[in-house]
Amino acid sequence: PKKITTHVLGEMKARGEKISMLTAYDYSMAKIADRAGLDVILVGDSASNVMAGWETTLPITLDHMIYHASSVMRAVGRAMVIADLPFGSYQGNSETAVASAIRMMKESGVDGIKIEGGEEILESVKRILSVGIPVMGHLGLTPQSINKFGTYAVRAKEEREAAKLIRDANLLEEAGVFGLVLEKIPAKLAEKVAGELSIPVIGIGAGGKVDGQVLVIHDMLGITQDFSPKFLRRYHNLNEEISKAVQSYISDVKSGDFPNENEQY
Ligand code: KIV
Ligand code: NA
Repeated sequence: PKKITTHVLGEMKARGEKISMLTAYDYSMAKIADRAGLDVILVGDSASNVMAGWETTLPITLDHMIYHASSVMRAVGRAMVIADLPFGSYQGNSETAVASAIRMMKESGVDGIKIEGGEEILESVKRILSVGIPVMGHLGLTPQSINKFGTYAVRAKEEREAAKLIRDANLLEEAGVFGLVLEKIPAKLAEKVAGELSIPVIGIGAGGKVDGQVLVIHDMLGITQDFSPKFLRRYHNLNEEISKAVQSYISDVKSGDFPNENEQY
């Protein structure tokens, strides 16, 4: 099947075909998602939460992200793979930003990177784009700034913040980003942004009137249980399924039922 590229995503937006995107952080999960026909895999810094168990996305490092991204790349044939640059690897210094992006591209082989923020990081965005690395933007709830926000509540409900988000989205598009993630903002605002921009806008908790959707795969599979925002649709209860399987295994080991005569040499 045809490899998904920034160009293909642009065509999908132009013809109104919705873009499917999920996170993955390891080889085995990425292989399942790619073979299932997913358009875009995001090696999100949500790995900090769901893989490493940290409370926020701040602790994960560029080395950690490169490890996850390269693991995903060994599995993928068709999907476009985007990796998040982690907190501290691109903010405040565009020279550091381009060095981080180049390391990610060289050492993992991903197709592009995603960074959080608008005007504040515009210089970094432009500098990364200038070396030929595709950049995806991320506005609205930007978890790397959680200590500034102080809450994971819906963003841009007030006029001022909404106006800044629209301005930032346009600045990012003008700079040349190939796509934009909008996280946890009012559906009406997301619809307006997706309508104004010609690049694909992917939403999470941003309603259905955007060009595609993204979720954290552990959330939509029901592996995580303590995270239940309104926007999350659970497609499975894998936590329960895995728990049952582990319990059956424990009981078979304890009873001596496993292994049986056909399961030995
Ligand atoms: O890290 C992540 O999983 C993300 C998505 C939620 C957009 O950035
Ligand atoms: Na992220």
